[in-house]
Amino acid sequence: MITYKCVSRRHGICGKVPPAYLNKLAVAKWREWALGDAGVADGAVIANVGTKVIGFFRYNLGAYSDLLIAYGTWVDSKYRRRGVTSKLWKKAIAKVKPYHIDVTTTSHAGYKFASKLAKQYNDVAIYINDVSP
Ligand SMILES: CC(C)(COP(=O)(O)OP(=O)(O)OC[C@H]1O[C@@H](n2cnc3c(N)ncnc32)[C@H](O)[C@@H]1OP(=O)(O)O)[C@@H](O)C(=O)NCCC(=O)NCCS
Repeated sequence: MITYKCVSRRHGICGKVPPAYLNKLAVAKWREWALGDAGVADGAVIANVGTKVIGFFRYNLGAYSDLLIAYGTWVDSKYRRRGVTSKLWKKAIAKVKPYHIDVTTTSHAGYKFASKLAKQYNDVAIYINDVSP
C-alpha cells in the first residue's frame, strides 16, 4: 500500500543534502536539479511503501503563501503511471491552497503531468515553464 505524508521544512526531504534513504536515481536527479543549491524547501509530500520512500514532491511558497513554486518531483520507476505524482501534488495543493503554481518542467513526462494537472484545476493558475530536452 502506498501512503502519503505532508511534511514541514524541518523534514530531511526538504533539506539541502539528499537523505541517505533515497535511491541512487533519486539522488542523481536531486543533484541534476541542484535542489541543495536552492536551499531548504518550505514543504514536501512523501510517498512511502512501508518505510521505503518511492516518491516525493518538494515546493517553496511565495511571500503570501498564495504561490506554490514546485521544485523537485520524483517517483520510483516501478511505481510510475499509477497516479503517485498526481496524489503528491493534490495533497500539497489541498494543504497550501495556492492561487498560483509555478513549475519548471525538465522532462517530457513532467511536462505532460503538469499540462494534465493544469486542465484539472480551474481555480488555480498553473504556469508551466518547460525546459525539457
Ligand atoms: C514525471 C514523473 C514525476 C511522473 O510521475 P508519475 O507518478 O508516473 O505520474 P502520474 O502517474 O501521476 O501521471 C499523471 C499523468 O501525467 C501524465 N504523464 C505522466 N508520465 C507520463 C509519461 N511518461 N508520458 C506521458 N504522459 C505522462 C499522464 O497524463 C498521466 O496520466 P495518465 O497515466 O492517466 O495518462 C515521473 O515520471 C518521474 O519521476 N520521472 C523522473 C523525474 C522527473 O522527470 N521529474 C519531473 C521533472 S519536471
